[in-house]
Amino acid sequence: MTTLSYQVAGAGGGDGGERPPRKWKDWALERETELRLEAPDQEGSLIDIKLVRGTAEVFGTEVARNQSYSLCPRMKLAIFTWHGCTVRVEGEPQVAYISEETPMIMYLNTHIAVDQLRHRREKEGQIGPRVMLAGATDVGKSTLCRLLLSYAARLGRQPCLVDCDVGQGSVSIPGSLCVLSVERPADIETGEFNKQASLVYSYGATTPSDNFKLYTTVVTSMAAMFRERCTARPATKSGGCVINTCGWVEGQGYNALVHVAEAFEVDVVLVLDHERLTLDLQRDLPKTTEIVPLPKSGGVVARTREFRRRNREDAVREYFYGKRPHLLSPFSFEVAFSDIQICKIGVMVTQHRRQHFLFISAPAVPQSALPLGMEKVDGSVLLVHEEPTKQLSHTIVSLSMANSTEEDVASTPSAGFPLHH
Ligand SMILES: Nc1ncnc2c1ncn2[C@@H]1O[C@H](COP(=O)(O)OP(=O)(O)OP(=O)(O)O)[C@@H](O)[C@H]1O
Ligand SMILES: [Mg+2]
Repeated sequence: MTTLSYQVAGAGGGDGGERPPRKWKDWALERETELRLEAPDQEGSLIDIKLVRGTAEVFGTEVARNQSYSLCPRMKLAIFTWHGCTVRVEGEPQVAYISEETPMIMYLNTHIAVDQLRHRREKEGQIGPRVMLAGATDVGKSTLCRLLLSYAARLGRQPCLVDCDVGQGSVSIPGSLCVLSVERPADIETGEFNKQASLVYSYGATTPSDNFKLYTTVVTSMAAMFRERCTARPATKSGGCVINTCGWVEGQGYNALVHVAEAFEVDVVLVLDHERLTLDLQRDLPKTTEIVPLPKSGGVVARTREFRRRNREDAVREYFYGKRPHLLSPFSFEVAFSDIQICKIGVMVTQHRRQHFLFISAPAVPQSALPLGMEKVDGSVLLVHEEPTKQLSHTIVSLSMANSTEEDVASTPSAGFPLHH
């Protein structure tokens, strides 16, 4: 594949001025090819991209001509062109190459088929298609989700993003699930959709198996909330939703997938690069649900456990301090203990048969080790009141909506997450 110049920015290649001169390179892309880039790990290593000729898109979002976009450290993306283009890359990416092998035609056809279903449902006065992504880790589920939503937004649709990935979610802090109404394509620099119209549900762990019952309870109430939104907003109703899921597809992870599909009554499951999962879902989901196998893109980058951990840390930091270079400055204020109630959720509790007295015990205590008259009860979605003087060091703390009652607090959207140590 041809590339043009490779020079040091100064006269023509950069903004000169205060920044030290940086290398830049023009990449000429032929039609239906993509430039794959990986930004370096180090903070402060700037990579800028600029479209200087033709048309291009980044995971469904159109790239504006002659505008510079900065990539965050560790960011991995592909600049795809349908008709050919030239992209200028300033700085020194860790990885940069052009690929002619992309599944974009299949992804575009999938988008067209989903939108035809939207038209059909709209005529029938029914909720638009509910599409779920499934597949192992690092197959491009979140990327395809973003692409389908951005394409839909470019057609003027307003589908919902339902993010059930509690480990690498894209909307709030790790351990949360969310429903987000998408009205515009994702931002190229951050990779995110506008989060203003989002409903975030706190789950508090990074895998569904930590408290499967709580996970399924939250998913069920998200599905109910999505249906309510469809009744209230015709644009949401015709847009339907695209559901992102965790990459864990064995055992309890598979059960979580099936539960999400059932709760949202999904019409289509797009299975990325996993033949057995396709067959299993065909067997276990209703015959009305279409299971469509799709290939993964060769550009998807596998991420290490350490990389994921750092991503989660970044997401928490970003929640409190904003996007780089951390524009927000959280401040603390005091709240009287008498004004708040502190509860623990999802702990195993023991109950005295006669007194119905609840207290927290170690989760792994076997029934045989309990004192006479005590029995274990499933506290997965139970609320247990904590002594206010106890340190809140054990888990993610979530603020619940003021009007939620004790019974439904487990499945009520969060009002926010306080910073605690
Ligand atoms: N065509 C591509 N070229 C370059 N990078 C890509 C491409 N497609 C995806 N990526 C990158 O690969 C990484 C993994 O993709 P993605 O997050 O979509 O996978 P996933 O299946 O959702 O992973 P997980 O199981 O962790 O949720 C992301 O950083 C994404 O930006
Ligand atoms: Mg993902």
